[in-house]
This record gives sequence, C-alpha cells and structure tokens, in this order.
Amino acid sequence: MNNNGNKYLSFLNNNRQVIYSLFIIILIPFMIALNTWIILNQEQFDLDAALRDKAIIAAQGLNASIVDDLNDPKKIQSKIDFFFNITSEVKYVAVINKIGDDFKVLASINSSEVGRNIDGQMRTLLGTAWFGDGAFAQEITSSENKKYGDKKIAYNERLFQIIVPLKNAKGDYVYLANIWVSAASTDYINQQTLIKAFVVLIVTVIIVLILVMSNARLFQYAVLFQRLKEVDQMKDDFISTTSHELKTPLTLIKGNVSMIIEDYDKIPKADQKKMLDQVFDNTNRLNSLVSDLLDVSRIEQNRIKLEFEPIDILEMVNKVFSQYEGQANEKGLKLIKSFKTEKAVSSLDRAKFEQILVNLVGNAIKYTKDGEVELIISSDNKGNSICIRDTGVGMDEQERKNLFSKFYRIRNNDTEAIPGTGLGLWITKQLIETMKGTIMVDSIKGVGSQFTVVFPSTSNIVKPEYKKEIKDLT
Ligand SMILES: Nc1ncnc2c1ncn2[C@@H]1O[C@H](COP(=O)(O)OP(=O)(O)O)[C@@H](O)[C@H]1O
Ligand SMILES: [Mg+2]
Repeated sequence: MNNNGNKYLSFLNNNRQVIYSLFIIILIPFMIALNTWIILNQEQFDLDAALRDKAIIAAQGLNASIVDDLNDPKKIQSKIDFFFNITSEVKYVAVINKIGDDFKVLASINSSEVGRNIDGQMRTLLGTAWFGDGAFAQEITSSENKKYGDKKIAYNERLFQIIVPLKNAKGDYVYLANIWVSAASTDYINQQTLIKAFVVLIVTVIIVLILVMSNARLFQYAVLFQRLKEVDQMKDDFISTTSHELKTPLTLIKGNVSMIIEDYDKIPKADQKKMLDQVFDNTNRLNSLVSDLLDVSRIEQNRIKLEFEPIDILEMVNKVFSQYEGQANEKGLKLIKSFKTEKAVSSLDRAKFEQILVNLVGNAIKYTKDGEVELIISSDNKGNSICIRDTGVGMDEQERKNLFSKFYRIRNNDTEAIPGTGLGLWITKQLIETMKGTIMVDSIKGVGSQFTVVFPSTSNIVKPEYKKEIKDLT
C-alpha cells in the first residue's frame, strides 16, 4: 500500500502536466463556487441592512403620523391599519404604552392583544429599546405559520423585528412601536440566485469534465512524452557508456594483436604471452559487458527464465570465494569467509544466484584498495542472509541514492580509473527480487560498504513433507 502510494507520488512528480490539468479541473469550479458564495453573502448583508433602515424610517413615519393622536387609541389603531397596508413587507405593527414599569399594548394589528401587559423576553427587549438610545433591531425566524390581518407569516420566514421609541409633540419618548418586516422577498431572490449559480456550477463541471475526457489523449501524450524523454536520456547514457566500455578493451586487443602479427618473430615469447594474456582479459571484459547488456534486455522484456531448486548457500559462497581468492591476493586484499550458520538453504536459480554473488563480491574487490572483503552468512527467522562487507572507497548518502539504477556509476577520484558499466547492481537487484529476496546497502564514505542480501529459507516457506511435491510442480 505504502509502496503503491510512493509509486503514485513519483508518477505525479514526473508528470507535472497531469497535476496541472487536475488542478485546473478542480480550480475552475471551485473559483466559480467561491465567487458566487462571496457575492451572495455580501448581497444578503447589504439587503438586510437596507431592510432594517427602511423599517426604521417607516417607524419614524408612523411616529409623525400619530404624534397628534397619542391620546386616542382608536385613531392610533386606524393609523396602524393604514400603515400596515402600505407595504407588503410589513407583517406586524403594534404601539406599546409604558405605564410605570409595565408595558401595555395600546394598539396592534393583532386586535386580540390590545390592552394586554407584556412580559417575558419581549419585555426585556422593550426595556432595552426604551432605555437605550434609539431604535433596536433584531433578526427573528418565525417558528410557526401565522396570520396578521391579510398577511401570512410562513414557518421559518426570516423577519426583522424593529422596536422604536416614539416621541410625543413635546419631543418626549412616551410610546414604543414594534414592527416586523419580512425578509422573505429578498430571501426568495437570493435563493433563486443560488439555484441559478448552482446550475451554472454543475454545467461548468460537466463542461470541464467533457473537455478533460475528450482530451484524455493529451494526458496519455504527456505521460508518453515524459517516458520518451527518459528513454532518450537512457539511450544517450547507454551509447556513451557502452561505446566507451567497448572502445577501451577493443583498442587494447587490436593494439596487441597487430603488434604480434607485425613483429611476430621479433617479440620474445614471454612478452607475446603477456600480450596475449591482456588480449584474453579484455576479451573477457567485452564478453561480460555484452552479457550484462543481454541480461538487461532479457529482464526488461520479462524473458528471464528461472529454475528454482533448493540451493546450499554455503556451498555456493565457497565456490565464488575460491574464484576470487586469487584476484584478492593479487590486489593484497584479505578475503574472509565467516559462516555463522551450519545450514542455509533457499529456493533459488543456481546460475542467477551465482551471478548475484559474483557481481557483489566482484564490486567489493573492485572498489577496495586495501584492507579486506568479508563474506558473512547467517540464518534467522527472516531467512538466510549473505553479507558482503568491504573496507573500500565507500559511498556517501547522495552517491547511494541511485545506486540500483541502470548505468549508474559513481564518478569521483576514487572510481574514475575503475572500469565498469553501472549495470551490475541493477541486474543484481532485479534478479534478487524475482527470487523473492531483498538487498540493502550500508556504506560510509572512505570507510567501506556492506551489501546484505536476504532470501527466505526453504524451511520457512515449505514444510519438509511437501517439499518434494512442490519441487515437482515447479
Ligand atoms: N562495494 C562497493 N564499494 C563502493 N562503491 C561501490 C561498491 N559497489 C558498487 N559501488 C558503486 O556503485 C556503482 C554501480 O555499481 P555496478 O552497478 O556494479 O556498476 P559497475 O561496477 O559496472 O560500475 C559503481 O560504479 C560504484 O561506484
Ligand atoms: Mg559492478
């Protein structure tokens, strides 16, 4: 899962165009939605403020019209009725008298409450408006369907309740007006705008999706383009590395052979032998380069054939050890075997396993100037592990980063004179993984390196009594 996640991330990382397109797909509808939301919110805010101001101005108008009739409740009532019917937004009007500490309804659009004392929360509001300075407004939401006069208030309708102290002719506050103004019409407009915006949003998303789908090929091209760039880079690396690697031994072979041909009789026998040895070594070098290249192509085309059988790892390590003993001695290196187990058997392909050991031990000797190379074999419940430790040039973290990539070679003063193709570790890792193993590297620059390969042991994966049948099947 984690591994998959990483693969995904690196895919996206290598295909910026895909991220860019996804970004656009998400960004365009998001910006439209955000824009609509901001505009609607602002509009709602402005409309509400306008509505409140309108109600306060209306209340002042009411005040002016009743200022001379404050002692005549009947006249006040008829003026309220008139006021109530001027605009459809006003849904309730009442004039309230303050008598001592009490508030009493003097006239109201709801005739049943005339003469009633007001208490509870409403009384607190009236007190606030009375003792505060000027009008008091608050937003309320109707909790039921109501009807005042001919006007209905729907359940959940948003209203502004405005309480305004009213002055008498002398300019003293004597009464309060309680007016409800409905926000229903502005809410309706907003709701319609919201629906339209939503439709536009959906249509935009559909259009963007259609565009993306019809341009899916563009994505493929983007991915293909990236891949082509990689392949092109690989080809360049391949040509420059392999031509150099082919040229060096070929020049040597050609030089030596042409000298021997031309001066066959003049060159002493011993020198001829030396020259032919060089020809032989370089032919081997060419041979292994071509084998590496063939391996790469086989692995890449999935043409590698493995024949699994129980392999005695200790025996194979002994074999490779004796192959390299001479070379190590020649270089003045100590080649050490440390077997920490008496038995290490894994189900492997014999030839490929040998190739893995040859690659790793070959590298260890190649990249070590002095000191030792040690082969440590151990077994535990994780499997059989083969550790190749050297006291060689080592690698820092940066150099280790692409260690298992194709054609990757570390280029510095320590390694520049050492021949190689940078294919060995890539092939090694591929082979190990197709045989269900793992490879790990630890290294300290200037101190040495340690490659650890772990294969499941046969005793871990197959119970002895079934071993034979399974072997027959494979
Ligand atoms: N044991 C080691 N010690 C230090 N460097 C190593 C060791 N093994 C591999 N390397 C580095 O890793 C690079 C890749 O190794 P490899 O794939 O075997 O290619 P090659 O040996 O052909 O260069 C080498 O060029 C070398 O710089
Ligand atoms: Mg190598």
